[in-house]
Amino acid sequence: MIDHSTVDKIIDTADILDVVQEYVTLKKRGTNYIGLCPFHNEKTPSFNVSPSRGIFKCFGCGKGGNSVSFIMEHEQMTYVEALRFLAKKYHIDIVEKEQTEDDKAQKSARESLLAVSSFAQKYFSRMLQEDMEGIAIGQSYLKERGFSAPISEKFQIGYCPDRKDAFTQEALKNGYKIEFLEQTGLTVKKEEWQADRFSGRIIFPIHSISGQVIGFGGRTLKSDKKIAKYLNSPESDIYHKSNVLYGLYFAKKSIVNLDKCYLVEGYIDVTSFHQAGIENVVASSGTALTSQQIRLIKRFTNNITVLFDGDAAGLKAAIRGIDLILEEGMNVKVALFPDGEDPDSFSRSVGSSGVMEFLKKEEKDFISFKTKLLLEEAKDDPTKRAGLIRDIVSSIAVIPDKPLRSEYISLCSKLMKVEEEMLHFEVNARLRKKTTPKTEENIPDEPRQQAPQQVISPGEFYEEEREIIRVLLHYAEKELYPGNEDKEKITVAGYVTKQLLKDDLLLKHPVYSRIFNEYLKALSEDRELESKYFINHNDAAICKVAADLLTENNRLSKLWTRYDSKVETEDMILKKIVPKAINEFKYKYTKLLIKEITNKMMAAQEENNTELLNDLMQQIILLDKVKNQLSNDLGERTIM
Ligand code: CTP
Ligand code: MN
Repeated sequence: MIDHSTVDKIIDTADILDVVQEYVTLKKRGTNYIGLCPFHNEKTPSFNVSPSRGIFKCFGCGKGGNSVSFIMEHEQMTYVEALRFLAKKYHIDIVEKEQTEDDKAQKSARESLLAVSSFAQKYFSRMLQEDMEGIAIGQSYLKERGFSAPISEKFQIGYCPDRKDAFTQEALKNGYKIEFLEQTGLTVKKEEWQADRFSGRIIFPIHSISGQVIGFGGRTLKSDKKIAKYLNSPESDIYHKSNVLYGLYFAKKSIVNLDKCYLVEGYIDVTSFHQAGIENVVASSGTALTSQQIRLIKRFTNNITVLFDGDAAGLKAAIRGIDLILEEGMNVKVALFPDGEDPDSFSRSVGSSGVMEFLKKEEKDFISFKTKLLLEEAKDDPTKRAGLIRDIVSSIAVIPDKPLRSEYISLCSKLMKVEEEMLHFEVNARLRKKTTPKTEENIPDEPRQQAPQQVISPGEFYEEEREIIRVLLHYAEKELYPGNEDKEKITVAGYVTKQLLKDDLLLKHPVYSRIFNEYLKALSEDRELESKYFINHNDAAICKVAADLLTENNRLSKLWTRYDSKVETEDMILKKIVPKAINEFKYKYTKLLIKEITNKMMAAQEENNTELLNDLMQQIILLDKVKNQLSNDLGERTIM
């Protein structure tokens, strides 16, 4: 944990121009600087840096933020990693936050696990290079399997001598405690004996996203079928299998650059691909793919291609797991290697260009791949065909994007020769069955007590809420009616919060509402909030929103300037645009409320519930008045 004032110091010191210029050639343009965006491919520069605001923003791909977000994006680091990176660059000593005894104990336990893992990795590598057994047995095996020296070195491959507890003894001698050796699984300890878990195995260290060694996979050199081919580290405080992908640390840059990730099965598939020059590859390492692993990939790309071994006996079982990837809204392709080949053997036999060519040709869209595979099996058997339709429909139904679902429905209808309507019906039936999980985004926090939720959904207000937050970020501390003696003195932030609270209205968007709450809190404490505060916020989502909204060009309303030759900038007409933003929000809200009450009236009518009907009618009349008033206000302002 980095101490708060250190964070401020880092942010203040890390000049955006200085930071960006290490990676991007910038030219001065007015008060800003402009260059080619490092985050997407472009020929004309749309990447802007504003030194006065301390932010960057690409108008091409939309990325934007402060110097910390730039490093996070460019180096694919977490927030804390980026802070440490910048601290190092500017020689700022990091003051760690005061920690409770529990924090300390837990942290130092984690650190001890990491330390012993790092020690083990170095020991195994040294054994492979220098130990007689390591050279004679380990190195010969790697040579036989075609590992190049640079690849062994890059992946920090090692060898654990087959000498009972030689490693454990060495670790103990170097001061590492037995409890951490046990917890990482490096040592297997029983009452009367202890042994090295990985004795006589080739070692594949497993790295975290930021490159720390957190676990190991060990391959036996024996061909005895009774011995497990691979042994892996057990779960520990630093190694959670379901949340780790082998090779991700070495792949992340390439995944971002190529906007695509290959998923293979084994350790050696990953290293062989690297050796063939293909670096955007990760492995699930023998465990079934988890949603967490998919989300790890999704941080870097939305495109994934799953590569199956040619002998995959469980191909059909394996492709079921792919529904998980569809569910995350990713684009999934698959490729099947020729019979008996896996990515490792295949890339060795055909070389780099051979693999590339093969992938280009064999890569198939997943849904059509699955349909064809199952069709082949079902042939003309009607029961099997019914099962096949159910199977395909279940895959299509998990895709979150509606247009994409429709596309697949029409594709599959052609492949399977069944009517589109029928597939639509089946897919919709499945969608209805699924209950929507409560995520942060769809927990309703309704200001008034209305029952059904069909009409008003949080997403409805996106544009209106965005405008309110934009106005706040730009002008929060400005006076709404400067120089006007007749009007009360009020700031934009004061006006906006008052107007919304008056009607019990809260913003629904998860990030906008967090920003709004910060303004509320600041006002109640009589504190000013500068936009810089949000740009440098430690909530990355808030930084992103602030950078986006603050770099949006100051809008000049065409209507406001139509009858006027002089151009008004926004801050000259706050008294117009701020109430307009509020009214637009309220107007939309009222409209939806009316729609919802109308629905309820229809239900009440069907049930002949006259009492309720009257009550609802009263509400509608009131709301209609409000709506008309708002509409008038909005109209007047637009014509003014
Ligand atoms: N695996 C495992 N435990 C096993 C067997 C396999 O954890 N007993 C994992 C390993 O991560 C392995 C992957 O599953 O890399 C794929 O297994 P397999 O295809 O059997 O091995 P290969 O990766 O092809 O390894 P090799 O080429 O060395 O035979
Ligand atoms: Mn293999």
